[in-house]
This record gives sequence, structure tokens and C-alpha cells, in this order.
Amino acid sequence: MTTTTPLTQDELKTLVGQAALQYVVPGEIVGVGTGSTVNKFIDALAGMKDQIKGAVSSSVASTERLKALGIAVFDANEVPSLSVYIDGADEIDGQGYMVKGGGAALTREKIVAALAERFVCIADESKLVKALGQFPLPVEVIPMAANHIARRFAAMGGQASLRLKDGQPLVTDNGQHILDVKGLSITDPLAFESEINQWPGVVTVGVFAHQKASVCLLGTAQGVKTITY
Ligand code: 5RP
Repeated sequence: MTTTTPLTQDELKTLVGQAALQYVVPGEIVGVGTGSTVNKFIDALAGMKDQIKGAVSSSVASTERLKALGIAVFDANEVPSLSVYIDGADEIDGQGYMVKGGGAALTREKIVAALAERFVCIADESKLVKALGQFPLPVEVIPMAANHIARRFAAMGGQASLRLKDGQPLVTDNGQHILDVKGLSITDPLAFESEINQWPGVVTVGVFAHQKASVCLLGTAQGVKTITY
């Protein structure tokens, strides 16, 4: 009898990172997200770096990794549009709506996603959910507004906590802070994103409904599943 060992989460991330190469358009600039799954994609992209012009990156961390592999990184202001943006997610639902920001890069991720015609989400199957909201929702905020925004979330039943790094408030690539909000019920992601975006002091809410995925490459025990929305 032969037994097969299930793939680890890391191996599933490698699989989807490699599978995303099929969406990269030769001769063009590709939008690149942030996180451990995207790192697998960046590593795979290095194998076709001579076929692309370069990348627009969504974080300092991804920029450093891209440059270290010899991939040119363009400023988002230099690029009017992108065919494709490839990024991971903390949660993705059956309609392609996502929660993102676990890596604190949500603002730049949303900006680069907005430049792209197509958002290809790469994720292992642990990220697929029926409804968004189990993963604490990241919200990038202007520091002086953090407590006020936390009270507004409390009024909707959420518990917000300031994200820390080495015991100090984490400072994003944009010089701001992150609130992680538990206990929210996000039944209408489009309306929720629009509402929170209006609150003074909110830089970016980690619901990606207006910039949802067009395609998800999901790493499963059976291989990479392609879901289109
Ligand atoms: C970073 C993100 C990431 O895409 C998200 O946190 C998933 O990361 P990982 O691939 O490491 O699980 O939104 O801000």
C-alpha cells in the first residue's frame, strides 16, 4: 500500500506562486503584492525576468526581494495601468472578496491593485472562507485617530487592537499604524468597505471588495484549483 504525505502549507504556497506565472504577460510590467505566498511568486518570477520589463511593488519588503533577484522595480506613478496584479490574501470568499493586510501592506496593495485590469489571488486553501471576518480585520490608520476609530468599531461590536512590533506600535511603509479588529460581521463587503473608508483617520480598510480578485489560484491537496469570479 502506498501512502502520500499531504503537502505542507509552504508547499501549497510554492505551487500557487509558480502557477501564477501563466498570468504574467511577456514584455509588460507586472503588479506584485506582499507576503509569504507572494515571495514564492517572486522567486518563480526570477526565472522569467528577461521576458518582462519589471514590476510595480506593493511594499518595501517585496521591492527588496525583487531587486535582489535582478527584477527592475518601477514607481507606481510611472505606470498608467497594469494587465495583472498578483497577490495573496488572509481570507477570500466565494465571490472573490478578500481580507488583506496581515503583512501590513494593505494600502500599497490596494493602490497597485487599482492600477490593474486583473487581480490574481494566490492562496492556500486555508484562506478560503464562506464569509469574511474570522481573520482580524487590518485597518491602516493615522496614529492620532486610532482610539477614536477603535471606539467606532466597538460601537459595531468589534474589538480593535493596535498592532505591535517589538513592543512598539508597528509603523507601516507609509508611516502609519494598524488596528486589527476582531468580532466583526462583514455581510456586505462592498458596503462595509465604502463605509469604513469614510471614517476620518482611516487610511485603508483591509476589505478588498471594490478591488476584488478576478481569479483565485487555490492550493489544495488535489493541486492548484483555478476559481474565476
Ligand atoms: C499583506 C497581505 C498578504 O497578502 C496576506 O497577509 C497573506 O499573506 P501570506 O501569503 O503570508 O499568507 O495582505 O499585507
